[in-house]
Amino acid sequence: MGIYHACMSQIIDLRSDTVTQPTARMRNAMMDAPLGDDVLGDDPTVHRLQERCAELFGKEAACFVPSGSMANQTCIRALTAPGDEILAHENSHIYQYEAGGPAALSGCTFAFFRGARGFFTSEEVRQAIRPDDHHFPRSRLLVIENTNNRGGGSVWPIEQLADVTRTARDLGLRCHLDGARIWNACAATGTRPDEWASHFDTVSACFSKGLGAPAGSIVVGDAETVNQVHRLRKMLGGAMRQSGFLAAAALHGIEHHRDRMADDHRRARRLAEALAQCPDTNIDLDAIDTNIVYFDTGNHDAHEMQAMFESKHVKLLALGPHRMRAVLSMAVDDDDIDRAIPVLQDGLKGNA
Ligand SMILES: Cc1ncc(COP(=O)(O)O)c(C=O)c1O
Repeated sequence: MGIYHACMSQIIDLRSDTVTQPTARMRNAMMDAPLGDDVLGDDPTVHRLQERCAELFGKEAACFVPSGSMANQTCIRALTAPGDEILAHENSHIYQYEAGGPAALSGCTFAFFRGARGFFTSEEVRQAIRPDDHHFPRSRLLVIENTNNRGGGSVWPIEQLADVTRTARDLGLRCHLDGARIWNACAATGTRPDEWASHFDTVSACFSKGLGAPAGSIVVGDAETVNQVHRLRKMLGGAMRQSGFLAAAALHGIEHHRDRMADDHRRARRLAEALAQCPDTNIDLDAIDTNIVYFDTGNHDAHEMQAMFESKHVKLLALGPHRMRAVLSMAVDDDDIDRAIPVLQDGLKGNA
């Protein structure tokens, strides 16, 4: 073990599921990947990944892009025109965390839903859609996030998701799924990627979160829309040359790391149950569907807690004055959780 890895292994990193390092087998798959120039269209590993994803999601075509944000933003641009309105939850990643991309890149405005855990209903969709009147922006695109990050890794009930998207389509909207963590939703419910995707025009899915790859996301959809996404990827500077190197990591993650996500979900529940034992800590155990644990720190200042936990080698994120998040991933195992729990419990009980 090198010095770097020895130091890393001391730290229990629960900040995000994006902090994972590629496994030895993933690195080998990357090293062995046949490569080409994907901008010229001849990287065989990128082609293999795109074909595999189109098949998995039951769509005509797929385009490999560098990040989840680029996947979402290229879809939004492909499915809207300037002045259009996007219907999404107020906590959605596309609105909160993508640097104003929908406004800057697509000229879109937003109408928001505010339901708990990132969910909303078909009745709310019906009410949000604007009448055909030249005074109003044109309601054009519905975006659902599944699992829902700020909703605490919540998984949409599939019947509700089907109902909401059916209503939106019947009223003339297109539908996009931000499926950065769709793999977690699949692992938690047994619902296949194509079953989720059948309700949407486009889907984005990340390889660099629960699947443990270093980078990359996929867009899937009909051939014409994906062709537009391909063009937009170039326009935004996201076309890469020997990107089969990264596609190989993604393929490895798809084939070997989906089943193990159940471990992340089990560890998230274990951590949540341990945190719930701290008197001041407010945590909704019924809301832990997958690998994300949000909790309130009571009177403790969350940023101070973050610094204090970090000094004891446990990294979490403060996401509000009294709100923290822990995310389970391949970066932590059962032993790490055993070590993290007393540190967090002591801190939250004020004994640190
Ligand atoms: C729900 C969701 N969508 C999209 C993204 C964007 O992914 P990236 O960081 O690769 O741009 C994230 C990242 O955390 C996310 O949580």
